[in-house]
Amino acid sequence: EFHLHPKEVSYSFNGPLGHYDKAQLQRGFQVFKEVCSACHSLKFVAFRDLEALGYNEAEVKAIAKNWAIKTPDVDPKTGEMAGRAPVPSDHFPKPFANNVAAAAANNNAIPPDLSLMTKARHDGSAYVYSLLTGFQDQPAELLKEFPDAKTPTGLHYNPYFANLNLAMAPPLTAEGQVTYGDGTKPTVDQMAKDVSAFLTWTAEPKLENRKRAGVAALFFLLIATGLAYMSYRNIWANTK
Ligand code: HEM
Repeated sequence: EFHLHPKEVSYSFNGPLGHYDKAQLQRGFQVFKEVCSACHSLKFVAFRDLEALGYNEAEVKAIAKNWAIKTPDVDPKTGEMAGRAPVPSDHFPKPFANNVAAAAANNNAIPPDLSLMTKARHDGSAYVYSLLTGFQDQPAELLKEFPDAKTPTGLHYNPYFANLNLAMAPPLTAEGQVTYGDGTKPTVDQMAKDVSAFLTWTAEPKLENRKRAGVAALFFLLIATGLAYMSYRNIWANTK
């Protein structure tokens, strides 16, 4: 009763003719880079995959090289783990050395990898948007009905999260937290929408091909049905 279904959001990629808005994906990537990547990885996405968003090879190289999180690598001489700047073929690295360190820094919760988050949750794109914009005080009725359900210290109430309290503090809190290069106003709502669109792309980079194949298949079936009907008429034309 207190757990809410994701909000209604309209995205360019919804519907049978849906397509990604590359400018939006770039803005969403910027939010991921400047905010979310401090705690979350994208283990199924390589830096070079960003070329699909419209970045060229040199830009991708620079993004990887300047990434704040280093990629663990084994030093061939000592066998020790040594951090190095990522290269385009590396995947977006985990910001914590291991799960123990991740949990220690986040009130005992490990920030999950976000590559497939929009597929892992029901109505995922809208879910991520709703989660980011859904932090609020606990409703008075909830506390009245369940006095023991008070949000524990260090957790944050969010009615879009299945168990209502989560260990992530609101990551998007103020307008202008990022500065968009294309002049879009970076309201919390806009940043949440952009990053949820970006995370839809990470989970489904081939969404446009899938939708186009669907439309083409319907078109083909329509024509095939017409041809089949015409053959039927033709074959039986002289039969009384
Ligand atoms: C969990 C998104 C920034 C720490 C999550 C979840 C999502 C998410 C979708 C999973 C919720 C679920 O399991 O259904 C984002 C986005 C961010 C962001 C889009 C940037 C805009 C951060 C930052 C931190 C953080 C900066 C650390 C300071 C966590 C933690 C969890 C979590 C600890 C696990 C919460 C729990 O299971 O209780 N985040 N996050 N996140 N995030 Fe983030």
